[in-house]
Amino acid sequence: MRSPSACIAVGSRRAVRPKRNTEAMCGIVGYIGNREALPILLGGLETLEYRGYDSSGIAVCVKGGIEITRATGKLIELKKALAGRKVMSESRIGIGHTRWATHGRPTETNAHPHSAGRVSLIHNGIIENYLELRAELEREGCVFKSETDTEVAAHLLNRFLEQGFKPLEAMRLMCGEVRGSYAFLAIDAENPDRILVAKNSTPIILGRGEGENFIASDIPAILPHTRRIVILEDGDLAEVTADSLYIENRGSIVKRQEQTVSWDPITAQKGGFKHFMLKEIYDQARVLSDTLRSRFNEQEGSVQLPELEKLGAKAKEIKRVVLVACGTAWHACLEGKFFIESFARIPCEVDYASEFRYRTSLIDSDTLVIAVSQSGETLDTLGALECASGKGLTLAVCNVVGASICRKADMVLYTHAGPEISVASTKAFTTQLVALELLALYLAERRGTMSTDERRKVLQSLVHLPSAVAQTLRVDAAVAAAAKQLASVRDFLFLGRGTCYPIALEGALKLKEISYIHAEGYPAGEMKHGPIALIDERMPVVMILQREKQLFEKSLSNLKEVEARGARVVVVTDASPEQALGVTPEATIHVPFVSSELSPLLLNIPLQLLAYHVAVMNGTDVDLPRNLAKSVTVE
Ligand code: AGP
Repeated sequence: MRSPSACIAVGSRRAVRPKRNTEAMCGIVGYIGNREALPILLGGLETLEYRGYDSSGIAVCVKGGIEITRATGKLIELKKALAGRKVMSESRIGIGHTRWATHGRPTETNAHPHSAGRVSLIHNGIIENYLELRAELEREGCVFKSETDTEVAAHLLNRFLEQGFKPLEAMRLMCGEVRGSYAFLAIDAENPDRILVAKNSTPIILGRGEGENFIASDIPAILPHTRRIVILEDGDLAEVTADSLYIENRGSIVKRQEQTVSWDPITAQKGGFKHFMLKEIYDQARVLSDTLRSRFNEQEGSVQLPELEKLGAKAKEIKRVVLVACGTAWHACLEGKFFIESFARIPCEVDYASEFRYRTSLIDSDTLVIAVSQSGETLDTLGALECASGKGLTLAVCNVVGASICRKADMVLYTHAGPEISVASTKAFTTQLVALELLALYLAERRGTMSTDERRKVLQSLVHLPSAVAQTLRVDAAVAAAAKQLASVRDFLFLGRGTCYPIALEGALKLKEISYIHAEGYPAGEMKHGPIALIDERMPVVMILQREKQLFEKSLSNLKEVEARGARVVVVTDASPEQALGVTPEATIHVPFVSSELSPLLLNIPLQLLAYHVAVMNGTDVDLPRNLAKSVTVE
């Protein structure tokens, strides 16, 4: 890092302990032009509310400096804080942010914009090397006010500006120091005629107006003002004034094509997808990177979860693990059992939270109780956790920061799926699987139940997961075609063995939830002990067939039994397309093979799509299916 000539200290001198603070799902809006900025920024942030957030803030350029207002909670709190701040209401240039904390507390101090000297800055993404940068900046005299990774970027930018670099050069130098993903928007009190923008791995768009320009993380935020959009690419730096958009990449000016968006505002919120569920299915490649990011060192075969320090210290003493959850999260627990038993060699039980809490639960100090929940507010899961608390060590695996379950548990492992809006859980499930796999590896390392090479191998496969998910999503059209053939059927049977049995359960749950078609998941080997009586041409069977040798052959035998009884069969498999199945299914959906541990996750994706397409064909309310709530806060 270059040595700064000056670093302007801001705020209190009280030391703040840095914490990892990732904000990949936040909303960003910027405005510069001839109108008052505040209503445009607030309106844009309101449009992004669907993404979920826990705090917000706005910074505007005013005569002689920058004014900032931030608040925790909903935008109404920000509006209240802004009321009476006349000085802010007159500005014609500003930046606004809604923060959805995925790690780190949702406080006013952690809310964006962050300031340093003459600079005010907002950020989506993660600065991976922020701890080293912060230490270095602190040694040089910078005083930090927040726990965020973002604040280092504000200090760095301020430093380069103070060193005399031009605004965009300073931005370029700052981006050269940080490692990670980002969409940055910054304003400089000494150059109040422009907004600086930088992008790497986090989406950001520019909107062109007449005598005014806009910047946003998502199209809906600026749709009421313009439909002329310029999408920035990784490595782009932009300087946005009221009349111009200047974009460069690696030092050269670039021209990014202007596009005209024809979406209505609701379609825009869904990122152009017809439903939130479909958007969230497609989100998976990206959010799984968020679940994994900064949590392991592939070379060392090591998993780093500082938030589980307490568990790390006790890892060797744990004699039993009990996983509790409801619905889809319960299916994730069934997969978690496989991971924990095979990696960490600890006996595991999985219980429905609603059952566990009313049984005599034999929990002692050597038991680890894991409550898995997307929302962290499911009453039964919270109740189960309460039963265990004070007896054993408790851990929440949760998506929503600061949710009730997180506050109750001794430790929390966040899944970083981002806000899940559709009632049917999709990306929350897959991120839960990965979080539980990381947890199992973490325990295995500390218990010495896996060699470094074995752990490294598992981690290497996790590295490929986001791209394998992206590849898997290419089956969408084939799944839609199969769904068309099957949409009018009234019953379905989903079969799977081993780690694919929970996937059969999850596939059936998804289908019944949103299409209202009766579906059952069953262990394929159990079929002949009863359900086989149901099989005929009116009962289609979805077989989840993993290539793992022993189970592959056994599942094929089950498939033949089903076919012999006239059932219509859909095979979802990670076997290679060349591999003979010896049966002729109505449809065969192939997903890529990465590793046997990751097969269930990838095989689940076509089932999410199948449920989705069948539901759409049946005209149900996909995102808000009848009788269901996103979080069940009653018994
Ligand atoms: C999933 O599609 C369902 N909507 C439901 O089963 C859900 O998983 C369950 O209610 C648990 O919710 P939680 O993860 O928020 O605790």
